[in-house]
Amino acid sequence: MSRRERPGGVRADFDDPASLAGAVAGVDTVFLVTAPPVPTADHDIALMTAARAAGVRKIVKLSAIGSGERFEGATVGAWHLAAEEAIEASGLVWTMLRPPSFASNFLRYRALIQAGEPIPNMTGDSRQAIVDPRDVAAVAVAAMTSDAHNGQRYDLTGPELLTFTDQATILERVLERPVKITDASALDQLPAGMTTGIGWARAGGAAYVTDHVPRVLGRPAGTFEQWARDHREAFAAMP
Ligand SMILES: NC(=O)c1ccc[n+]([C@@H]2O[C@H](COP(=O)([O-])OP(=O)(O)OC[C@H]3O[C@@H](n4cnc5c(N)ncnc54)[C@H](OP(=O)(O)O)[C@@H]3O)[C@@H](O)[C@H]2O)c1
Repeated sequence: MSRRERPGGVRADFDDPASLAGAVAGVDTVFLVTAPPVPTADHDIALMTAARAAGVRKIVKLSAIGSGERFEGATVGAWHLAAEEAIEASGLVWTMLRPPSFASNFLRYRALIQAGEPIPNMTGDSRQAIVDPRDVAAVAVAAMTSDAHNGQRYDLTGPELLTFTDQATILERVLERPVKITDASALDQLPAGMTTGIGWARAGGAAYVTDHVPRVLGRPAGTFEQWARDHREAFAAMP
């Protein structure tokens, strides 16, 4: 979070402004990751407000692909968009990182895969350029440690478009065990607050590849297959 040494880190709570002030004191650059249980920009804005008051110079925000797109009368990633807009208006230096689905989302299904149970496919036959989260982290480090990425909004895609079934097939090959899937696209099965984003992705909104990861890192973006190979042990371990 900072250029200052902080052995042991600093505990803070997005819902407790005083604790945020302590976390950003003396900090130059913040990497902002929020995952509110209810989709609002409140946590981002609380941190941004504390950062500005503390004299922080730059915020690198983990956002999401498609934030601000319109789908069926609603805004995709509305809370990320509101947070991005607040940060842009704050006068702080910023970089927005907007990845599609992380390869690591499959780790949530370790228990199901180990039990031979089907895993939920929420995105139907649509394709997405699944990104290796290690690439997102590497771009975040680049953005935090160089001013070459100030004011940039990067769509951090992986190198190839894959359906959920494609990913399951790759995982099956790498793990050498069956990976079954089941249709979980019914609206009442989707995570709260994510129906617009998932609907947008299912309709093909996220079906594109960018060169932003290779442009920033000077090497190709990692493939889903390589991520799966590097995480074989995680799938073998008990969750
Ligand atoms: N997953 C994706 O495919 C994806 C794609 C694009 C963008 N994103 C964005 O990336 C961000 C993270 O998503 P994710 O899928 O990685 O979420 P996640 O798997 O639910 O992880 C969220 C992390 O935040 C921590 N956390 C939750 N509430 C907190 C709080 N009040 N204070 C401090 N830490 C808290 C959690 O800690 P515990 O583990 O202790 O609960 C967990 O480590 C989100 O903004 C999301 O929109 C995700």
